[in-house]
Amino acid sequence: MGESTKKIKIGIYGGSGYGGSELLRILLFHPNAEVVFVTGNEHAGKPVSEVHRNLTSLTDLRFVAITDDLNELGDIDVAFFGLPHGQALELVPRLPSGVRAIDLSGDFRIDDPAVFETFYKKKHAGDLQKRFVYGLTETNREAILGAEYIANPGCFATATALGLSPLIAKNLVTGKLIVDAKTGSSGSGARHAANTHHPQRVNSFYAYKPFTHQHVPEIEQHLRSLGKLDEPLVFMTHSLPVSRGIFASCYAELERDTTTDELTGIFREFYRDAFFVRIVDGSPDINWVKNTNFCDISVHVSGRNAVVFSAIDNLVKGAAGQAVQNMNLMFGLEEKTGLVFSGSNP
Ligand SMILES: NC(=O)c1ccc[n+]([C@@H]2O[C@H](COP(=O)([O-])OP(=O)(O)OC[C@H]3O[C@@H](n4cnc5c(N)ncnc54)[C@H](OP(=O)(O)O)[C@@H]3O)[C@@H](O)[C@H]2O)c1
Repeated sequence: MGESTKKIKIGIYGGSGYGGSELLRILLFHPNAEVVFVTGNEHAGKPVSEVHRNLTSLTDLRFVAITDDLNELGDIDVAFFGLPHGQALELVPRLPSGVRAIDLSGDFRIDDPAVFETFYKKKHAGDLQKRFVYGLTETNREAILGAEYIANPGCFATATALGLSPLIAKNLVTGKLIVDAKTGSSGSGARHAANTHHPQRVNSFYAYKPFTHQHVPEIEQHLRSLGKLDEPLVFMTHSLPVSRGIFASCYAELERDTTTDELTGIFREFYRDAFFVRIVDGSPDINWVKNTNFCDISVHVSGRNAVVFSAIDNLVKGAAGQAVQNMNLMFGLEEKTGLVFSGSNP
């Protein structure tokens, strides 16, 4: 069929940030993709490689500013949005007809308007929200296949939801789920504030947003779509003194005594068709998933107590890589296309 052989024409909104940088790193080498334009209002006119020096001599693209009439930016099949929360809410309704969208922000992840407005302090998308599919690829593949618009999951949400989905889908949990999650500093984007600046974080360790992190509602909403979630998720976020990577430790009380081998077997079966989820022994390590689209998971059980460790690269599986994985499915390509690369050792 046509769609799998011709190039998919792509526009990237917000291409000068970290998420945009990763989209470019992947899409410029994707065999079925052609990046038509990249926006960066502050850098309009500059070569992309002047901002993303890793792309020197690899692209002639220049940043463009977002125009009032989005048609003027170029003819595309799909728009990726790597903009701060709130901006895709305004831009998606202005997309030329027939253009699909994949949004990396939280603008379209939450179905309940009141919950969205509490966590994001923005007006909910209303009816437009119904056209979005939540893009946690491994658990939502069927819906993503025909999707017009994708709400790409948050980085913490990806690591956590992949760690917890088998437990909820197989109805193995009783009582509370507790998640202790840590992120590297690139999770805060290219523009730093005093408390998110890498030099402040690199020799330090602290918790932030207790009980109020904006990824809590999307994780709960997603888990509820798979099965029974008895109690609110207890979810704590921490700053890890590295640039990239998320590591989530997810604690659960199981319905009955289980063994590590048994639960590992359940996870392997649940993710049997998921190339990008690797069930590993011992502990995952953010080193082995860094710069890749893999999520490494291990499970450990003592009686009825279980812990699931889950590690991803926040900018790849937690953002741009998963977005491209979703694009592949939306356009009838093999899910792995353009995304099979290992990390480095060490
Ligand atoms: N960083 C992560 O690990 C991660 C993971 C998953 C999802 N996300 C989400 O992906 C989106 C982009 O994140 P990011 O980390 O790539 O952010 P970023 O590095 O700060 O980049 C933001 C991009 O948006 C543009 N922009 C437009 N108006 C802006 C404004 N008022 N303030 C700041 N930037 C503005 C910036 O370029 P111009 O100003 O030149 O237009 C830039 O291209 C966010 O919604 C974020 O929540 C991020």
